[in-house]
Amino acid sequence: MTEQSSEKFLSEQIHYYDERAPEYDDWFFRLGRFDRGEDHRKLWETEVRIVRNELARECPNRLVLEVACGTGLWTEVLARSANRVVCVDASEPMLTRAKSRVGSATVEFIHSDIYHWKPEKQFDLIFFGFWISHIPTDRFENFWSFVNDALAAGGTVFFVDSLYNPETSAKDHPTPSRSGIVERKLNDGRSYSIIKIFHEPEDLQSRLEALGWTGQVQPTGEFFYYGRFRKAYPNLQGIV
Ligand SMILES: C[S@@+](CC[C@H](N)C(=O)[O-])C[C@H]1O[C@@H](n2cnc3c(N)ncnc32)[C@H](O)[C@@H]1O
Repeated sequence: MTEQSSEKFLSEQIHYYDERAPEYDDWFFRLGRFDRGEDHRKLWETEVRIVRNELARECPNRLVLEVACGTGLWTEVLARSANRVVCVDASEPMLTRAKSRVGSATVEFIHSDIYHWKPEKQFDLIFFGFWISHIPTDRFENFWSFVNDALAAGGTVFFVDSLYNPETSAKDHPTPSRSGIVERKLNDGRSYSIIKIFHEPEDLQSRLEALGWTGQVQPTGEFFYYGRFRKAYPNLQGIV
């Protein structure tokens, strides 16, 4: 995909999330078209808990940037113990929901396309949930260079995203394609093509290591993987 062709998908993606905002949480809570039964929901919730607990360990007293916060499902976890959280999302309807979910004086919400946003400071923790899969291949390195610039020395990046599992999708969606573009429908049947790359944890870890990051990508079981990375320390050879 060229930079130009990914541009078309990126604006369609923002429009899609504007329209999806009122029904977005159905996916997370496995409701409506995403209801795959009680056993499925219990396993999903167990895996969400694994990630929430791991993320919560990173937050106390941190200055946090959340990229693409959506309706604030993870902002809640961050806001509980961070000093301050700055959330950036390109969809106003998503941000409206996040604000009503997380009404905290320590959380700032910014309406902006992350690809055009420049932070004024560096952060101790940068978090993104279900965002890395939406970054087109031709922007992957640039995005990580943005993360590198926005992260303070000794800081941590934490992310969570989807393993490939057709059951995570809505019952009326076609089997998700592994081409990098998937078809998504809204409750009223409108259909959108969006970028969704199902990274393999090991592959993703190697790609990040090749960019100079140190850390691990771990699957939670059936549905998710999460990653925790630090900037590689500068080469100290010659100093000791
Ligand atoms: C899959 S949702 C994830 C929301 C939230 N992080 C979560 O885990 O529930 C993707 C989010 O990315 C946002 N988004 C899409 N394109 C964006 C862009 N270029 N800049 C910032 N946010 C964007 C959407 O508005 C949406 O809220």
